[in-house]
Amino acid sequence: MMHLLCLSGSLRAASASSAVVATLCERLHGVATTSRFDIGALPHYNADLEPPQAVLALKSEIAAADGLVIVTPEYNYSVPGVLKNAIDWASRPAYASVLKDKPVFVASVSGGALGGVRAQSHLKYILAGTLARVFVWQEVIVPHANTKVVDGRLADEAITAFLLDGIRAFIGSIARG
Ligand SMILES: Cc1cc2nc3c(=O)[nH]c(=O)nc-3n(C[C@H](O)[C@H](O)[C@H](O)COP(=O)(O)O)c2cc1C
Repeated sequence: MMHLLCLSGSLRAASASSAVVATLCERLHGVATTSRFDIGALPHYNADLEPPQAVLALKSEIAAADGLVIVTPEYNYSVPGVLKNAIDWASRPAYASVLKDKPVFVASVSGGALGGVRAQSHLKYILAGTLARVFVWQEVIVPHANTKVVDGRLADEAITAFLLDGIRAFIGSIARG
């Protein structure tokens, strides 16, 4: 069974991004194994630091995963700094990091009608800079996300089903190499 490492780009407890990740992990039961990493545990990127334990843990979890799933909110038309910080840590050494050739599936959420599609597009561009293999599929977005979260889960079956279709296609593409 494939193993997917899931990252939420939001740190807040009531996050819609984290709700999407939680829903995905539940609904993938029997399809793939999943784990999550809390990017809030990472310090600010500083090239002068010996990579701290949290950074080593992130890198080793990325290395061990068959694929990465990132659900990002949109902040000011782009990705939250905390997510960019995690990618910056994971991206070293440049062009030879654990992200190189790593299959990545991206989805986005936002409070607005566009579902974070601008952040999603920025995230895909950022990942290109790491030589990750971003999965090309229809964009999975969660618009008006805060109205679609109930008890920490995504309460929109149509979007959930669409997301799961995308993840199944992603897993298939990893299997085919
Ligand atoms: C600093 C900040 C900037 C934001 N900028 C945007 C934006 O550019 N576009 C948008 O649709 N929503 C924007 N929002 C709303 C977030 O997308 C919305 O609150 C979303 O639910 C946050 O994700 P989360 O629920 O996973 O924490 C912004 C929120 C914050 C806190």
